[in-house]
Amino acid sequence: MGAHARRTLGRGRSETPQWTWYVSRTTRDVSNDVRAPILRSARLRLEPMNRAHVAPLLAYRLGNRTHLAPWKPTPRPDAFSETAVATEIERSVAAASNGQNVRFVVFEDEGEEIVGEGVWQSAILGYSIDVVRQGRGYATEGAARVIAYAFDELNLHRLQTSYQPTNERSGRVLRKLGFVVEGYARDYLFLNDAWRDGILVSLTNPHWRPD
Ligand SMILES: CC(C)(COP(=O)(O)OP(=O)(O)OC[C@H]1O[C@@H](n2cnc3c(N)ncnc32)[C@H](O)[C@@H]1OP(=O)(O)O)[C@@H](O)C(=O)NCCC(=O)NCCS
Repeated sequence: MGAHARRTLGRGRSETPQWTWYVSRTTRDVSNDVRAPILRSARLRLEPMNRAHVAPLLAYRLGNRTHLAPWKPTPRPDAFSETAVATEIERSVAAASNGQNVRFVVFEDEGEEIVGEGVWQSAILGYSIDVVRQGRGYATEGAARVIAYAFDELNLHRLQTSYQPTNERSGRVLRKLGFVVEGYARDYLFLNDAWRDGILVSLTNPHWRPD
């Protein structure tokens, strides 16, 4: 993590990522391997990515391969294998336990099938929703819960992300959540085999506490 990211995550004058502080005060058994808590909203359960997610995450990725292709980096040839997903999860668990990054996978109520996933690293927000479950407000609901966790419980000051100009759905989700446009970055991310422009957006925490 670079100095800028540390400053973004840090609390006030401290250079310590906020996440480290959080990890150190929580218990290990909350969610299997990862010390971040399971989050709940009206209809969704957001679990920190852990080793129990290999099979459901592989099923989610396979079922949404076409749906997600335009918005993701081009997958490696072996990306849709159990080994690749297990390796990704191991990295995610390690990153969560040293305070760098927490990724949530999203389930409906008590269901076992993943309906979406969220990436949150260095106060950057990302998400996707199962192709057949779009349009139900799940992305907005899940992201709102993660934002509340980031702002109210972790006292992060700022979240940022980007969306492609053609991704009207995602732009709508971000506007509903209160994100504001900060600029337009040409050739911003290498996604789906090409450099893609990005609309940069951010959200600041109105209740940030300088403690
Ligand atoms: C973007 C994505 C996460 C949205 O998930 P979702 O659960 O359908 O989102 P929500 O239902 O919470 O909100 C979608 C909004 O977009 C609107 N919408 C749907 N299709 C639209 C379109 N073609 N153009 C503009 N708005 C559209 C919906 O009406 C809704 O707004 P509303 O509540 O005001 O009616 C989902 O489509 C997805 O996984 N896309 C692929 C991955 C991706 O793009 N991730 C984000 C990268 S920045």
